[in-house]
Amino acid sequence: MQPTEPPAPLSLLGRNDDGRRFLTGALGEFRGVTSTPPDRPPFLVTKEHRRFAEFADTVRRHRYIGVCWGPPGVGKTLSARHYAGTDDWGQWQRALAAGKNTDPGPVPAAVLSARTALWTPTVTATAKEIDQALPRACQQISWALDYHQHGHVDPLMHPESAASGLTELLIVDEADRLKTVGLEQVRDYYDRHHMGVVLIGMPGVERRLARYPQLYSRIGFAHEYRPLSPDELTAVLTRRWHTDGLATAPGAEVPDFFRTVGPK
Ligand SMILES: Nc1ncnc2c1ncn2[C@@H]1O[C@H](COP(=O)(O)OP(=O)(O)OP(=O)(O)O)[C@@H](O)[C@H]1O
Ligand SMILES: [Mg+2]
Repeated sequence: MQPTEPPAPLSLLGRNDDGRRFLTGALGEFRGVTSTPPDRPPFLVTKEHRRFAEFADTVRRHRYIGVCWGPPGVGKTLSARHYAGTDDWGQWQRALAAGKNTDPGPVPAAVLSARTALWTPTVTATAKEIDQALPRACQQISWALDYHQHGHVDPLMHPESAASGLTELLIVDEADRLKTVGLEQVRDYYDRHHMGVVLIGMPGVERRLARYPQLYSRIGFAHEYRPLSPDELTAVLTRRWHTDGLATAPGAEVPDFFRTVGPK
């Protein structure tokens, strides 16, 4: 009897199909990702950001849950976005979604090196929405790595990225919004995957988490995000003063805080 050829791996992709719909969310059941985001101020790498990046690296390496808290407006969200490469990622996804014949260029280096999904629950997120949003956020990063490596995304051909296997860290911003059930869902997701999780919230979130023993027992690292130093604050404000066009506005006067806190 002739030896039979092993069956070719199944593919979901058609001819001339690189599976980019998996990366842009254009699958029909998802909303697209083509809307243009609001302008964000340019990011300044501060000492607090470097501390945050070290913390996130540690959580990711050890695949623990980490909790990060800090007062409003100190830069937690910007730090997390910068760490995960979220802005580059959004821009790349929009380029990808622009059309089949467009070349979006390589997957952004920040996404490839961070392997991090950033997810922000909406204020009224239901249990069902959370159940869908968590895997979706993580799966996209896993697929982005597939796309980088193989030039296409095919969930059947590259099972290593199935179940978000290539995503190493999930950052949940505004974790205070999660109610008991939502926190339990995050814990359950963490238990069923091999990735670290960072929960970012306001001061007090760490005390609230302590009331959930099963979640709390998985927290390996805690990090306080401190306010910017006066020098860094002056640098951020100076930059905003210029990027927001205030410095060149007719009749613009140099605000008092620049005179009292630092130069310009
Ligand atoms: N490193 C930074 N570079 C540039 N701007 C910064 C930086 N850190 C903070 N800012 C400024 O502070 C604002 C608030 O930052 P961000 O939204 O990240 O704060 P937050 O800590 O997440 O606040 P909240 O707890 O309210 O969510 C930004 O819009 C930006 O103008
Ligand atoms: Mg924030």
